[in-house]
Amino acid sequence: MVAPSKNRSRKSSVIHPDLASVLFTEAEIKRRVRGLAREIKQVYENREFTLIALINGAVMFTADLMRQIDNPVRLDCIRVSSYGTGTKSVGAPQILADLTLDIANRDVLIIDDILDTGKTLALVTELAKKLKPASLRSCVLLDKKARREVPVEADFVGFEIPNKFVVGYGLDFAERYRNLPCIGVLKTKLQQLH
Ligand code: IMP
Ligand code: MG
Repeated sequence: MVAPSKNRSRKSSVIHPDLASVLFTEAEIKRRVRGLAREIKQVYENREFTLIALINGAVMFTADLMRQIDNPVRLDCIRVSSYGTGTKSVGAPQILADLTLDIANRDVLIIDDILDTGKTLALVTELAKKLKPASLRSCVLLDKKARREVPVEADFVGFEIPNKFVVGYGLDFAERYRNLPCIGVLKTKLQQLH
């Protein structure tokens, strides 16, 4: 194994070649996630609640957020299709893998990476409501308000962002870039599928 050279050891200062710009660095995300955890804690106090993470996108955000929360929590995941492999949502989202936990009479918090047209959050909210939770809230790391098509808002929002296609920290383009520690705008020329 080759030891990293000194000038390459500060990973966050090197922008990924496929990004046009970095919107949020790893440190900025970390700080905001801690802030969101505090906001969530103010609402639930010390009560138990159930997290529903929308996978795959919310995987990293959920993992980091729940480690900042010391309440007893339960975790379930739901898989919803929306983008296929492109950058624009096509048609109505579909549930590909449903919940497994019983959420009746439970306090439930839905977690997603980004609120865009609102179709996904609206669908999952409707589905969860039918299961009669005691309360239902939602938390998204990013909110692209300009793209909203369905009137839905999240109770907790990490950052509002402009109408740009972003990747990193769980967000993908054709399943790539989820592992970037920062969130950045994907170069336009890379937003076409080959
Ligand atoms: P909505 O149903 O249009 O609100 O879409 C929400 C889903 O679309 C999110 O869960 C993301 O998976 C995906 N999405 C929306 N905008 C972006 C983006 O800029 N980059 C990556 N994924 C996105
Ligand atoms: Mg998603």
